[in-house]
Amino acid sequence: MVSLVFATNNQHKLREIREIAGNTINVTGLNEIGFEGDIPETADTIEGNARQKARYIFERTGKDCFADDTGLEIAALDGRPGVYSARYAGEGCNFEDNVRKVLEEMQGNTDRTAAFRCIICLIYKGNEYIFEGRVNGEITIDPSGTEGFGYDPVFRPENNAQTFAEMPPYLKNGLSHRGRAVQKMFRLLNQLM
Ligand code: IMP
Repeated sequence: MVSLVFATNNQHKLREIREIAGNTINVTGLNEIGFEGDIPETADTIEGNARQKARYIFERTGKDCFADDTGLEIAALDGRPGVYSARYAGEGCNFEDNVRKVLEEMQGNTDRTAAFRCIICLIYKGNEYIFEGRVNGEITIDPSGTEGFGYDPVFRPENNAQTFAEMPPYLKNGLSHRGRAVQKMFRLLNQLM
């Protein structure tokens, strides 16, 4: 079975990717390889951040690894928070602060269309690959649901009545940006093996 280190300190992402991987790929967390500390993400694009995080871990461990960088792009906000999704409400903010800021900025806006975009950078046997997953949807008026993380309580994927945070994990993972990017990565790994 292929083993990959997931270059993230985000335990929510780790849990989701493990649920998506099931028994097909062994996904190792940073703490399991004794890696501590923050991973820099200072690029000004989602793809740049994904590459930066994967390279950072590869250069320090030499292990096959991948990183995920995700942004919520809201049309009426000219694509914000986008690459700044993690710290949108400022340094030291939490998920609730970010959600509050987005809802405040969206107040009175009738165009609520948005998309989650996830870029995964895989470094496998020294080669670098990029995969993208996207899901369209809209920003709700109020937060709803307790599953998931981040902006999930205010994002309702198109053709669905529930926000990501109202869905059981298997439903979110089946149609999410991350789920789609990860499936592309798994297909490539299958071809390479
Ligand atoms: P990053 O990819 O670690 O930079 O994540 C950016 C931010 O986007 C995170 O801190 C979360 O707030 C948010 N985010 C990433 N993935 C998801 C998701 O699947 N659902 C909701 N919010 C997410």
